[in-house]
Formats: sequence, structure tokens, C-alpha cells
Amino acid sequence: MTYDALSRRPTSGSSAATHESEDELYLEDVALQDIATRFGTPCYVYSRAVIEQNFLAYRDALADHPHLVCYAVKANSNLAVLNVLARLGAGFDIVSVGELERVLLAGGDASRVVFSGVGKQRYEIERCLQAGIHCFNVESDTELALIQQVASDLDRPANISLRVNPDVDANTHPYISTGLKENKFGVPIDTALDLYQRAAQMSHLRIVGVDCHIGSQLTDTSPFLDALARVLALVDELAAVGINIEHLDLGGGLGVIYDKETPPTVAQYISQVREQLGDRKLTLMFEPGRSIVANAGVFLTRVELIKETPDKNFAIVDGAMNDLIRPALYQAYQGIEPVISKNTPAATYDVVGPVCETGDFLGKDRELAIAAGDLLVVRSSGAYGFVMSSNYNSRPRPPEVMVDSSDAWLVRARESFADLVRGETLLPQL
Ligand code: LLP
Repeated sequence: MTYDALSRRPTSGSSAATHESEDELYLEDVALQDIATRFGTPCYVYSRAVIEQNFLAYRDALADHPHLVCYAVKANSNLAVLNVLARLGAGFDIVSVGELERVLLAGGDASRVVFSGVGKQRYEIERCLQAGIHCFNVESDTELALIQQVASDLDRPANISLRVNPDVDANTHPYISTGLKENKFGVPIDTALDLYQRAAQMSHLRIVGVDCHIGSQLTDTSPFLDALARVLALVDELAAVGINIEHLDLGGGLGVIYDKETPPTVAQYISQVREQLGDRKLTLMFEPGRSIVANAGVFLTRVELIKETPDKNFAIVDGAMNDLIRPALYQAYQGIEPVISKNTPAATYDVVGPVCETGDFLGKDRELAIAAGDLLVVRSSGAYGFVMSSNYNSRPRPPEVMVDSSDAWLVRARESFADLVRGETLLPQL
């Protein structure tokens, strides 16, 4: 997971006489400086090659074992990203009908879609049944009854899998930990047998799987393997009462390198899962998001001005928390570096945006050799970046660009002021 397609190459215009510029950053074979010139800043840039390579790592590791890798659309739902994955035969994990429509528009196959989430609404269940999705990952007894009702009204059977909560600590940030019994997700694993037996009696439900997702950015396989052991015990109990599960979905959650983490590779993780599975004939499913797209993307931003105070130096940039909220929301670390490196002295900066919040920062206490006008790259921004952006402070969302070898394509235009006020109206004059 270290390959991110970023490389430093000698600056084309660098003058040997002044030694001012050393080298500049490329994503695949495109200079990020050229992207900024063509599309402006702030801007998200993704590498097609990295997305493909990360997806193929799952496919290669699963090889001859029956499997379906359902990319978690929430991590990055740009149509071009979904299309790149659809072309490789990916399945998709969705949490809303909006995500289903995106998958279909991008050429994805409904029969490879799983629908997760604690609050599926009637119209969403209807649309998914009409589209013919692979399976609903059911998160409560109430939802099970609702799906049965909708399926019976439409007279279309619904494939279901229970998302069980195995009560395992994922050792990750509390906001992205989902497999503890106090979390809102899934059904407690000790009630699952009973619920499966009730589902088996329902006229329009077809039990196909069991599912769990314990959290995100896991950097160790042991919580996954603990959860798997509990889920496999359930699978065996179900078989003993005549309920035969076809697939086991282990969710997403594999961590990536943002800083000094040492997550297992996809191959290491999957080989441990396969080993623990033994000779059970279960199709293996995964719902990776971050491990497919995080290190395939960067966020480009320009230094507007340097502000020095007696206590701190601030690099005020044109990107902000509305564009990339992970640092503000989770105190997440993402690497920041100048696109063009210079032989000038470095200083320590908080890299902050123009939004009116103290929490509006992209990085704190970073050693950078920079000046006003310089271009910065925020690494590992392909997952939970653009998708979590907002228009806070009436800031238009940035464009998204995809690089493919030496080409760069605009895959979402920068928003305009008209986009910001679309749908708003004044009160009538009384
Ligand atoms: N499946 C389910 C049911 C999920 O809830 C999630 C993520 C995934 C799969 C994909 O997990 P991944 O492979 O990406 O770890 N905004 C946070 C992450 C939230 C994750 C939510 N669920 C962040 O920026 O760190």
C-alpha cells in the first residue's frame, strides 16, 4: 500500500545557474504544477493506475477462491472512479439510493451491489429490489420486517444477509469504530441465530449471507480475525439448524499509510482470512473503500499568504476544512509538502484555510520551505476527501481531476456561484 504514483522529477524550467528549484512532484506522468495551471486550486487529483492496482490486489489475493469485492462507494463516489472500478468487474457497497444511481450511471452492475446502513428507507428498498441488487445487509429486526413487507408488496424476493456486531474493538478512532456493542451498527451477534430463524420463515426473504464491518483504518489484522472467528462460529451454528450461508462479507476497514502506520498488505490480510476460513465453502466478500482510493488521490492547494505571529507561523492556503475535513474532524494526519521543492530555509507552520473556525486546518506544526504563491500537495486524500466536502462559508467545491499516464481529465468541474444558490428562492413580496 505504499505505492501512490507520486514521484519527484527535475523541474523542467529549473536553472542550473540559480539552483533555485530542485525538483517537482508528478502524479503518474503528469506534473502537478501543470494540473494547477490548467484546473486551478484547490483541486483533487486521482491516479487511475493506483485505483486499479489497489483493486487488483484484492482480486489477485482472492484468486481462485469464489469472491466478490464490493468497493465502498462512500469513500469516493466520483463517476469516473466508479467507472474505472466497474470496468474491472468490481461490485459496490452502497448506503443510499443516491449511491446506487451513481453506480448504475457509471456502468456498474446492480447484481454485484450490496446495500449497507442502519436507516434504509422504504423507497430505497423498493428501488434496490427493482434494480435487482445482490443483497441487503440488514442491521436490525425492524429493518428485516420492513424489507419483508416491501418485497412482499412488490412480490420480488429480497436476498438478505444480517450485519452482525461481533463486539470487537477495532483499535481505531472512536468515530470510525463500528463493531462494539455500544455502536449503532448491526445486530448483536448473540441474537443473530434467532433473527436468522425468523427470517427463514418470512415469505419474501432469501438468506444468502452473513456480514460484519468493525471499523475503518485498521492497521492490524487481529481485530478482523477475532471478528471472523465469532462470525464463523455463527455460520457453523446456522448450518446445524439447517440455514446454509452462501457468502461471508467481512466489510471494509483495512488501513493505509498516512504517516508511520504499518498496516498489513491486502495479500497478507486476505491470506490470513483464507487460512482461518478452512475448508468452508463460503464465497468471500469485502467492502474496501479507503484501501482502494486513499493513496490514489492528492489535494492541491496554494499558499495565499504567510502570517507570522510571536507564537506561530501560519501558511494560509486556498483549501480549507470545507474541502477536506479529515484533519479538523478526526485530527487526522495527512502529509503536506511543496509541489516544487526549493533550497530555501524551512520553518514550522500550521497550514490553515480561510474558513472562520479555529478547527480549520489541514496540518499542524509542519516543517516546510515555502513562500506565498507556492503550491502544496496534501497526500492520501483520495478517500473521504471530496465526498465529505461542503459549501460552508459559501465556498464552491473544488474540481476533481483524474490522471491516466500522461493525460489529465477533468472528471468534476469546479462549482460556480450559480451552483451554490441553485434551488434557493426569495420570499414573495407581500
Ligand atoms: N462497509 C461499511 C458498512 C462501512 O461503514 C464502511 C465505512 C466501509 C465498508 C468502508 O470502510 P473502509 O474500507 O473505507 O475503511 N470518514 C472516515 C471513515 C468513515 C468510514 C465509514 N464506513 C474517515 O475519513 O476516516
